[in-house]
Amino acid sequence: MKILSVVGARPQFVKLAPIAHAAAARGVEHVIVHTGQHYDPMLSDVFFTDLGIPAPDVHLGAGSGSHGQQTGAILSAMDAVLEEARPDWVLVYGDTNSTLAGTLSAVKMHLPVAHLEAGLRSFNRAMPEEHNRVLTDHAADVLLAPTEVARQHLAAEGLADRTVVVGDVMTDVLHTVRDSLTGAPASVLATAGVEAGEYYVATIHRAESTDDPERLAEIARSLKALDKPVVLLAHPRLVARSESFGIDWSGGSVRLHAPLPYPELLAATMSSAGVVTDSGGLQKEAFLLRVPCTTVRTETEWVETVDLGWNVLATTAEEILAGVQRPAPTPTDATPYGDGHAAERVVEELLRRTHG
Ligand code: UD1
Repeated sequence: MKILSVVGARPQFVKLAPIAHAAAARGVEHVIVHTGQHYDPMLSDVFFTDLGIPAPDVHLGAGSGSHGQQTGAILSAMDAVLEEARPDWVLVYGDTNSTLAGTLSAVKMHLPVAHLEAGLRSFNRAMPEEHNRVLTDHAADVLLAPTEVARQHLAAEGLADRTVVVGDVMTDVLHTVRDSLTGAPASVLATAGVEAGEYYVATIHRAESTDDPERLAEIARSLKALDKPVVLLAHPRLVARSESFGIDWSGGSVRLHAPLPYPELLAATMSSAGVVTDSGGLQKEAFLLRVPCTTVRTETEWVETVDLGWNVLATTAEEILAGVQRPAPTPTDATPYGDGHAAERVVEELLRRTHG
C-alpha cells in the first residue's frame, strides 16, 4: 500500500509525525508532499527535525496569497504529483487550504481520499477553516474522526457510513514527547523575567482575531492588563497585522517571543500558569497537560475541553481577564482524545480497506 500525505501548515506537520512513524513501522510506502503554505523555518523545517519526520519527497512551493490563490496554486501543482505517484490513498489533515486543495486534486483524479481529523465543526460559516472542513469531509472517501462528538457531526450530515473513530493523533504526539519534556525553555523564562509557573503562554493568529483592527486592539488591551507576564508567541500573521494597524503590545504584561519549536511549546505550556489562545491544537494540548486554557473565540471545535472545565471561551476584554484569572479547574482523568494510538489505527484502517 502506498499513502501520499499532503501537508503544508504548522499543525499538519505535528499530525504527520505519528502517521509517518506508524506507516514506517508497518512497512507502508509513504510519500510526503509539502505544499509550501508555511515556509518560514520556524513554522516548518524545525517540526520535521524535532519530530523525526522524514524530509518531504515533494515541495510544491505554493507560498502565501489570498485563499483562492493559495488553494489554486496547490491544486494545479498536485496533478503532476498524483499522476506520478498514483497512491492507494491520499491522506489530508485538518482544515487548512492545503487540506482542501489536496482533497480536490485527488477527487478529480479518482484517487481515494482519507481525511484525518474529520468531523470537527465550529458552526461558524465565516471561518476559512470551517469551509475547508465541511468541503473536505463531503468529498473524502474515509473520514477518520478523532472523537465521538466528531462522529455525531458527520452522522448528522449523512456521512456515517464513511466514518471511523480513530482517536486524536495529537494525543499520540504528546504521549511520545511528554516524557522528554524538561522545564520551561530558558528563552521563555528570560522573556517572561519570572520563575516557572508565574507566566501565561499566549498565541493569536486566526484571521477572525487578527484581521479586524478593533478585535485585535481589544485582545491586546486584555493581554496587557493580565496579572502575570504573558509570553506571546508571535505568528507572522499577528506581527504583520499589528504593524499595519499600529497596535502596540508594549507597556503592559505582554512579552513578545518568536514562535517555538514543538517540544519547547509543550514545555513552556506545561510550566505556565495558563494559556490564552485562538489555536485549535493548543487548547487540546493545554487540556492534555492539565493547564487551564482561555480561548479567544466565540466557539470551539474541541468542546470536550470546555465541558470538562479546563477551557473557557472569551472574546471581550472583561471575559478574557475573568477567564484567565478564574479559579483552578476540577482535576479530571477523562480521556476524550483517545489512548495515544490513533495513528496506528489510521494505518490499519487504510490497509484493511486497500486489501479488502
Ligand atoms: C493557517 C491555517 C490555519 C492554521 C494555521 C496554523 C488556512 C486557511 N489557515 O493559517 O487553519 O491554524 O495556518 O499556523 O489554511 N506567513 C509567513 N510565513 C509562513 C507562513 C505564513 O510569513 O511561513 C504569513 C503569510 O504571508 C500570511 C500569513 O502569514 O500573511 C498567514 O499565512 P496563511 O498560510 O495564509 O494562514 P495562517 O494564518 O498561517
